Amino acid sequence: MPLRLTVIGAGYLGTTHAAAMAELGFEVLAVDVDADRVEQLNLGNLPFHEPALPELLRKHTASGRLRFTTSMAEAGAFGDVHFVAVGTPQRAGEHGADMSYVDAAVAGIAEAATKHCLIVGKSTVPVGSARRLKDVVLSKSSPGINIDFAWNPEFLREGFAVEDTLRPDRLVVGTDSDSANEILRAVYADALERETPYILTDFETAELVKVAANAFLATKISFINAFSEVTETVGGDIRTLADAIGYDARIGRKFLNAGVGFGGGCLPKDIRALQARVSELGLDTTMRFLNEVDEVNLRRRDRVVYLAEQLLGSLEGKTVAILGTAFKPNSDDVRDSPALDVAGQLFNRGADVNVYDPEANANAAKRFPRLNYCDSLVSAVTGADIVLLLTEWPEFIQMDPETVGTLVEGRIVIDGRNVLDPEAWSGSGWTFCALGRRMDHVSVPVPV
Ligand code: UDX
Repeated sequence: MPLRLTVIGAGYLGTTHAAAMAELGFEVLAVDVDADRVEQLNLGNLPFHEPALPELLRKHTASGRLRFTTSMAEAGAFGDVHFVAVGTPQRAGEHGADMSYVDAAVAGIAEAATKHCLIVGKSTVPVGSARRLKDVVLSKSSPGINIDFAWNPEFLREGFAVEDTLRPDRLVVGTDSDSANEILRAVYADALERETPYILTDFETAELVKVAANAFLATKISFINAFSEVTETVGGDIRTLADAIGYDARIGRKFLNAGVGFGGGCLPKDIRALQARVSELGLDTTMRFLNEVDEVNLRRRDRVVYLAEQLLGSLEGKTVAILGTAFKPNSDDVRDSPALDVAGQLFNRGADVNVYDPEANANAAKRFPRLNYCDSLVSAVTGADIVLLLTEWPEFIQMDPETVGTLVEGRIVIDGRNVLDPEAWSGSGWTFCALGRRMDHVSVPVPV
């Protein structure tokens, strides 16, 4: 009989994983505690924006291969393999990860399992969690029921989640069980046929691969953004610098886009959780550089606010147009979004803040209800004293400076993502500022 899979947690990761596994031919049951969400997902309605996922969800809820439930008991009776994909958010007021959802999900499914099965953790967790949870599984499983255990971190990027899940660039499995390894090789047979690297390792390495990858990416972004502080001071050009070092194959050009920095549900909380975990292990200084990575990143946001204030004289009573609230394009996710942070700071300093994002307005409005949410680029920029591009959606990159110039009150723009053509904008009479580039028209000491 083909393997039957469950996915515990129908959030971003879980819903994508469940739909992708159905696409690969498995029968999949996904579990979530939120009954409304489950109902909507069963109707084929995706509660967040992710390209290609709505189609996959509708296809497989219709085919019957993908179902959602609130019942852990149903999942325990159904699954041969249970993937745990619940969140590990930052704990309120602390840097460490909140493991309560993962702990509850693993214990819950181990208790509910009524047949031999494999539990596979996918969530991003502090190192040491898998070994601890393996004991939880042993203590919770019913007599006579054998449960294998593995850790298999997920590397999907929002905006490319379906592609990354169906065609991962590598698979990492941490386990001490041969049968867990065999079962996971069967689950990922499609990727293995394409010779996707499959790294079989211990629990600790598997857990660390995920946080190491995200810490490296965050460091790369803050590295180039730190140089932005230098080029802004001496009058250099950060894009040329990134291009030039990026030609060195050991460095590479990817993730060297300077701007307002990283946000989202992963990078910021993962570097904090890693520091917290490593400190718990007594290695207080080991990951201290990540504190700097975080600081550089947050300073970029303050820098945009400072620049806007310098360029306008005062923010009081001025209209600011913010283009983008999502933490990156092709997403409606505003978690730890640099754009929304800047919008909020400008509002708190007395500006009238018009905001437009093609997908993320609704989520942004839940966090910052007092901004003026606009339903188009045109309405956001109309009457604005300054325009701030903070998320690089294609429609912002393609803006025509002449057309936008006829709508605004003042032709001042800050390119927070280094995606606009400085000559074209300056040529149309705009005061043009981009993070990490020469700024002749403002005296801007760094750091702010
Ligand atoms: C990230 C990892 O890439 C992914 O592998 C992991 O599974 C989850 O975390 P994601 O959060 O979807 O994925 O976003 P990512 O594409 O990594 O971008 C993170 C942030 O960095 C965004 O705010 C983006 O705007 C910013 N960024 C990215 C830069 O500022 N400059 C760059 O050059 C690249």
